[in-house]
Amino acid sequence: MNTHEHLIIFDTTLRDGEQSPGAAMSRDGKVRIAKALERLRVDVIEAGFPISSIGDFESVQAVAKTIKDSKVCALARALEHDIDRAGEALQGATAPRIHTFIATSNIHMERKLHMNPEQVIEQAVKAVKRARQYTDDIEFSPEDAGRSELDFLCRILEAVINAGARTLNIPDTVGYNIPQQFGQLIQRLKERIPNADQAIFSVHCHNDLGLATANSLAAVLAGARQVECTINGLGERAGNAALEEVVMTVRTRQDLFSCDTRIDTTQIVNCSRLVANITGFPVQPNKAVVGANAFAHESGIHQDGVLKHRETYEIMRAEDVGWHTNRMVLGKLSGRNAFRTRLQELGISFASEEQLNDAFQRFKDLADKKQKIFDDDLQALVTDSRLSLANERLKLSSLQVCSETGEIPKAQITLVLDGTECQGIATGSGPVDAIFRAIETIVELQPSLKLYSVNAITDGSDAQGEVTVRLEKGGRIVNGQGADTDILMASAKAYINACNYLLDPSTRQHPQTGDV
Ligand code: KIV
Ligand code: ZN
Repeated sequence: MNTHEHLIIFDTTLRDGEQSPGAAMSRDGKVRIAKALERLRVDVIEAGFPISSIGDFESVQAVAKTIKDSKVCALARALEHDIDRAGEALQGATAPRIHTFIATSNIHMERKLHMNPEQVIEQAVKAVKRARQYTDDIEFSPEDAGRSELDFLCRILEAVINAGARTLNIPDTVGYNIPQQFGQLIQRLKERIPNADQAIFSVHCHNDLGLATANSLAAVLAGARQVECTINGLGERAGNAALEEVVMTVRTRQDLFSCDTRIDTTQIVNCSRLVANITGFPVQPNKAVVGANAFAHESGIHQDGVLKHRETYEIMRAEDVGWHTNRMVLGKLSGRNAFRTRLQELGISFASEEQLNDAFQRFKDLADKKQKIFDDDLQALVTDSRLSLANERLKLSSLQVCSETGEIPKAQITLVLDGTECQGIATGSGPVDAIFRAIETIVELQPSLKLYSVNAITDGSDAQGEVTVRLEKGGRIVNGQGADTDILMASAKAYINACNYLLDPSTRQHPQTGDV
């Protein structure tokens, strides 16, 4: 790093990212992602919204206890009990932060909060003061700042700084701004708020118009020194600014930016894959930095240029963001120790010997079918063995599928539902349809199938297929995943995984829809 200022990277994959419909993550999944973010050297990890559900509270607690080298942040509306719950969840964190917010645009204050501007300022100040009982590291967000009046923003931000907020996060909640306008907003706030020098300005941009990264970068050029972002741009609706895009732009264009991050960019691809794997949101091939085609040169002219002199067509090096690190690590003859060691290197540990034994058994089964086991196989295998929810009601026992030319495909499945073995038989338009129908004869959930996708985890025709299934029932959307060298088996696992989420009655409260 040069003598540039520090640009703080605040990752909200575990909070705003989880607000993507169907991206719910288990506590275990969240801890794995948090560890990967720590290795990536993000400054702040927003671990969740503890008041929203017991599960989220416990996830924030688990992340807070595990992470040492990044700050851990919890979100709270500007309400006493939200803040107390956030403070409680963060107990034991090495460096805790509370992030409290209240809406400031006229439309949100009138139509959602039913409060007048004076009441909103009063509540924001009260919230910041309450949060200070738990930590000195307080962040405040005026929700929908991108559509709020400048004068009002200046008043409320001045008041919360006086109350002790030290990070002021300016969200473009609905992704409405354009870069020049958003940069100007940051510049004006910094110029007009009398005590602005006592706080760091942060930005949080949504991607509804595809401008989240551009808006964030315009804000950095205007003096923002924290960017809130997510891995793969995950997040509410069209998502948030993508961490990999923000970080790599600032790093690649040091001629333009007077700041830089402390991110270890070689961890980016691993982190991206892990998030895709755990959430079931695959990365599109042409996605900047982390898409499979991001460094692939198809045209002959480009290939020729790159071979002669790489920088003719490449502005970043693939290895600098962690491509080509997918090593062949283990094989059929690898022992338990080698397996455990490689998982440790990937930041994966097990709560018990039983869990390790179970994963090792799965590894051995996989090694029987597949000669070379790559890091991505291990990640999928661990996700697969940990997909089981704490109170998983449905388990797969066996599957038989018959699909022949000229015949109607038929599936016969044996599941264990609440401890009782049940059999389902069904035909379908294809083998996958038959499997899903056979499962339905047992669970009778009748959800609508919103997405079915298969991805090969690694190269080669013996690769594991990773299936993602998205189901919707009564407005609730869940994602299920399964990995196997047999994609019909992977499909059954994914559907069962999604059913387990639907069978779990726990629901989460959304931070931004409820009245304060
Ligand atoms: O988009 C938004 O406004 C948010 C806030 C809670 C910061 O996510
Ligand atoms: Zn957001």
